[in-house]
Amino acid sequence: MDTKNFLNKFYEKYGNRNDKPVLFFSPGRVNLIGEHTDYNGGFVFPCALNYGTYLLIRKIKSNILRFSTLNFNDDEETVLKGLFVNKSKKWINYPLGVINEFIKRGTQITGLEFLYYGDVPNGAGLSSSASIEMVTAVALNELFSAGLITLDMVKMSQKAENEFVGMNCGIMDQFAVGFGKKDHAIFLNCDTLFYENIPVVLQDCSLIITNTNKRRGLTNSKYNERRAECDKAVELLQAYKPLKNLSELNTDEIHLLDKFISDPVVSKRAKHVISENGRVTEAVKVLKENNISRFGELMNLSHDSLRDDYEVTGIELDTLVYEGRKLPGVIGTRMTGAGFGGCTVSIVKNSDSAKFMTDLSATYLKKTGLVPDFYQPEIGNGAGRLDL
Ligand code: GLA
Repeated sequence: MDTKNFLNKFYEKYGNRNDKPVLFFSPGRVNLIGEHTDYNGGFVFPCALNYGTYLLIRKIKSNILRFSTLNFNDDEETVLKGLFVNKSKKWINYPLGVINEFIKRGTQITGLEFLYYGDVPNGAGLSSSASIEMVTAVALNELFSAGLITLDMVKMSQKAENEFVGMNCGIMDQFAVGFGKKDHAIFLNCDTLFYENIPVVLQDCSLIITNTNKRRGLTNSKYNERRAECDKAVELLQAYKPLKNLSELNTDEIHLLDKFISDPVVSKRAKHVISENGRVTEAVKVLKENNISRFGELMNLSHDSLRDDYEVTGIELDTLVYEGRKLPGVIGTRMTGAGFGGCTVSIVKNSDSAKFMTDLSATYLKKTGLVPDFYQPEIGNGAGRLDL
């Protein structure tokens, strides 16, 4: 990130070089394993990326909020009116939703100028939304001395996305971008919010993220459909035992699902959630033992379950994963995030990574007509202020 250039852009846009803005950053995230478990009170294992969203922000003496981004040409302005901010039809709903949460808590927000720049691809399952929300939250917290702890801001950002933006996501993304730690993944229990930072030491391998470059048109409605199916499973399983969420069941109880859930689709959804929790627990254990090859197998099993039982993959993700597995040096590969498009995450031997990208790119283009993008990320820290 060229901060000098970013600062110059801010001054070009908003003027007044004597009043310096403040710089903040929030990462995107990649989930290594534990998909569609967060809203079921289960386990996830994400890590923060060294890609994310940068924000330059400055207070102004008025009641105007000015938003701009270097990513596309779309400046917006809105007036702070009493208690709430109006919804927009555009990307600024992410920051506006967060501002709204601060206002609801009693923080006296004044006029502000915002300039965003993101280097994590939008809508690709790497949490660009949570990244914009959390960078806004940490900035407001500091500028208005709101005294919030990270967990407060994580919950407020999730609420902004659920209620203001209208995407009913779980807590994983905001948690990962808020609590990320360099070279560690976060083993999070989404029910208790107890978490542990686990070092990610991949020996002679690295993470490669592959973007399907498929736009995820129906993600929201399909996502909500899956949530509803899980709720249905919990309701039907009350005849077995009182349950708050699917993650209260363990893998030895999977064989009982069909007995209580007459709809085979709902039963498969429950099976995915319960088996995925088992895989995350084992994945963390084997990573601590430096058993990368078993970790990779568990990633593969996770994808298979997301394809067969949860049905959130699709031709693009499946092509990347199943063609990828045929290539040398691939330890494990799976979809990451909500699915239906977005990205895969793979663990690949360093000596084979160049061939992995060239060969997979060619096969993927042939089978889908799309050109994938590859990222070789580092695991970074969570959201916070940067020096200018
Ligand atoms: C999206 C949501 C998360 C989580 C994942 C699936 O990224 O925002 O809360 O549910 O999908 O694991």
